[in-house]
Amino acid sequence: MKENPFRISGIVTGKYFIDRTDESHAVIETMRGRGEKMLIYGERRMGKSSILLNAADRLRIEKEQIVYADISPATSLTDVANIILHAFNKETGGTVNWIELLRQIQLSFTISSQGIPSLDVSLKKESADKQLTCLSAVLDSLDAYAAKKKLTLIIDEFQKIVEFGAEAAEWQLRSAIQQHQHLNHIYAGSQTRIIDQMLMKDRAFYRFFEILSVGPIDEAFMAQWIDERFQQAFGIPYSAGADCIRLAGPRTRDIVKLARKTFALAQRTQETKDLAADAIGQLVSEEDDFLRPQWDHLSNLQKDILKVVASGATEISSQATITRFGLPNSSKLAYHLNTLVNSDVLWKNSRGYHFDNPFFKHWVALTLSEA
Ligand SMILES: Nc1ncnc2c1ncn2[C@@H]1O[C@H](COP(=O)(O)OP(=O)(O)OP(=O)(O)O)[C@@H](O)[C@H]1O
Ligand SMILES: [Mg+2]
Repeated sequence: MKENPFRISGIVTGKYFIDRTDESHAVIETMRGRGEKMLIYGERRMGKSSILLNAADRLRIEKEQIVYADISPATSLTDVANIILHAFNKETGGTVNWIELLRQIQLSFTISSQGIPSLDVSLKKESADKQLTCLSAVLDSLDAYAAKKKLTLIIDEFQKIVEFGAEAAEWQLRSAIQQHQHLNHIYAGSQTRIIDQMLMKDRAFYRFFEILSVGPIDEAFMAQWIDERFQQAFGIPYSAGADCIRLAGPRTRDIVKLARKTFALAQRTQETKDLAADAIGQLVSEEDDFLRPQWDHLSNLQKDILKVVASGATEISSQATITRFGLPNSSKLAYHLNTLVNSDVLWKNSRGYHFDNPFFKHWVALTLSEA
């Protein structure tokens, strides 16, 4: 059995990481600076966190300190502050004199036997405003540290902060961050709808960050990268990369997931053609237990809409499509399309509506062909 060169769990680094030269360069430049403020954003599963962590790994070799705080497990602003404190402690190796650094906060915090500080959990019951003041104070203490020793703070899933603190949180946070002359702030977020709103003209972070938008990896480059991994493993040329991209759509994780399955299939057959099409069929049938309940939860009208999208129709709201597929009138249709977008089943761009999960699209198409 050959080792599968495609990884889909967690953050990918090292030989599993497909180079993102421009994005990595931009992030590294920011990490090398002082008092920088960057927001890295893009569609889900594009590879934002992987870019950040690869850049962090590279800079740590140069002894730079990069605090990586993934705040997705947080359920309050206090949790956010604690995740940051823990990540900071991990990065700085417990060499920080917390009592000195948190002195100004005047808050109740505990220091564990391993020397890790945490804000008191009772703070979670306080108002978002109070919790935000504490979070700002924690960020200030990191900036104070950064004045002596260079430091970058990455906050991943940044949009959570607004989720907990509403719009007011953005203004308070902005006023804290903008005073930081030493600490580099790099924020990443994946729910583009929330982040798009956060960056709008009347909102706090309008033109505040340097923005790094993470889109799909160049198709030709990625296809070649995939094919090279097949060739290295099996010693003969393959052309699976382009098929994986065509079938899985633009998101890096989806493509890598299909490439991984295609590779597993290649281990068991002499065939080198059309492997990706077989692989997606297999993936979809393996995920039936997970995909079918998603389908069952939808209303009949939503199912009809998804069938049309799965059939490849893009101009779904056109009168011709409405008539051909017996869809409801355009205002009712618009309402249901909106619901499907808001629940992340579909997403929309200038070319029309698309499934968020390409494997769900294939499942729907397959279910239809069997019906
Ligand atoms: N540059 C890359 N090289 C190889 N695989 C990648 C790369 N970027 C992303 N992937 C694949 O996509 C998966 C998701 O990547 P990552 O978590 O970095 O994306 P993300 O944009 O942060 O996603 P989310 O929106 O869920 O936070 C990885 O586990 C890996 O399988
Ligand atoms: Mg991420």
